[in-house]
Amino acid sequence: MKTFSGYDDVIKRVYDHHQEHVFKYWHELDDDGKKRLLEDLSDVDFALMERLYSSPESAPDEKFGPAPFIPVPKTTEAMREHARAREAGVEQVSRGKVAAFVVAGGQGSRLGYDGPKGKFPVGPVSGKTLFQMHAERILKCSRKYNAAIPFLIMTSRVNHDEIAAYFRDSGYFGLNHEDVLIFPQNMIPSLDTEGKLILETKNSVFKNPDGHGGSLTALRASGVLEEMKRRGVETISYFQVDNPLVKIIDPAFIGFHFLRGADISSKAVRKAYPEEKVGIFVRHSNNRIAVVEYSDLPEDAIHSVDEGGALRYSSGSIAVHLFQREVVECITAGADLSLPFHTAKKKIKACVNGVGIEIDGYKFEKFVFDALPLTEKNIVFEIVREEEFAPVKNAAGIDSVESARKMMNDLYRSWLRTRKIRIPAKTKIIEISPLAAVEPDDLDAGIEIPEQEAVYVS
Ligand code: UTP
Repeated sequence: MKTFSGYDDVIKRVYDHHQEHVFKYWHELDDDGKKRLLEDLSDVDFALMERLYSSPESAPDEKFGPAPFIPVPKTTEAMREHARAREAGVEQVSRGKVAAFVVAGGQGSRLGYDGPKGKFPVGPVSGKTLFQMHAERILKCSRKYNAAIPFLIMTSRVNHDEIAAYFRDSGYFGLNHEDVLIFPQNMIPSLDTEGKLILETKNSVFKNPDGHGGSLTALRASGVLEEMKRRGVETISYFQVDNPLVKIIDPAFIGFHFLRGADISSKAVRKAYPEEKVGIFVRHSNNRIAVVEYSDLPEDAIHSVDEGGALRYSSGSIAVHLFQREVVECITAGADLSLPFHTAKKKIKACVNGVGIEIDGYKFEKFVFDALPLTEKNIVFEIVREEEFAPVKNAAGIDSVESARKMMNDLYRSWLRTRKIRIPAKTKIIEISPLAAVEPDDLDAGIEIPEQEAVYVS
């Protein structure tokens, strides 16, 4: 057995769990290299890795039907109810009860951008990055509602330093720097097809961020959950980094969540077509709400229609949720309630015989929506896709930068039309700064759009 001062218990664990192949290049490593490898191994939960390999976890297979949801208001009564909810939501925000939380620990591999996805320049005219748009939207809301709104940013070990430096160098985009809390999520090793740890280099183990579901434990482990309690925050408004249209602080949504005493609330869009790749909201036979991944929805359910011919499973998740802080405290308090890991077979770049090659392996990730069925009171809140959901997943085609920019242009034009502001025929692209408006009513009806092809309303 190898020895190294201060790390002998780590080394023993490696041998006890038959993973000593990770020491293949030990004789080539200097003391720093050995230490680096041992540090990497020190937080590996070997028993968990064995369990994940031998009996993959997943959310329990339950019987389900479609989930009920609060529809987009069409009737006068529904509009009144939304207005009442909005008032309640504004009050919650104004009292400093709401924090914004973006998960940005993903690797953004589909986009193929060399850097954290949040630094991707998405503004069609301004070239502003996703992070800048999110930060400015929060700044605008904190001014509008005269409230402190902490901005929580989850990173991963891979992109943490770059994201922290970006915010620091950009002056936190005008936000109070104490209100921007940046913290990394946990990493979990991948395994090869034999259940063995994979070396990424001669002195490091291949690990990946533990999924957006890791955000709940990261909130606790980082001390941010405790800090939110100290600041009197009760509701955490969760969103993903890649949606430039996201309504980070949505008073009506927050109001319904608050008035109905929900544990977790979620936003949904009406599915565009049966095979659309979005998670679907369902209700289990025990009445709990859950999300079923599009790949797990049985074929007959995908096409199932109701008496009126409408799709039965039509509520798609846009990964926007409100979490009660106390609920996150409960879910992360012990192992019993923790979220399951999902296993995916993936190509992994491994160090084999001293060189990097792609091998087959298993990656493990938690999904944040698995928290829903752990709680009793859930609301699904339908929104209009064109107003709030433009995911940037791919470099081109569906859910791409291109499609998101087009959606931004279309939405901002509709805001100007709502305010009866004339758009010159010459104007092809319009972008509205979040600092100018987070909804049409914020726009000054007296503004004039210049005769230009590309217009930025700031
Ligand atoms: P995606 O599932 O789209 O993954 O993440 P991704 O890593 O961004 O992109 P691909 O699949 O590699 O192309 C949805 C959201 O969850 C965050 C991402 O940053 C994004 O905001 N996420 C994902 C994490 O924060 N941590 C993770 O481990 C995974």
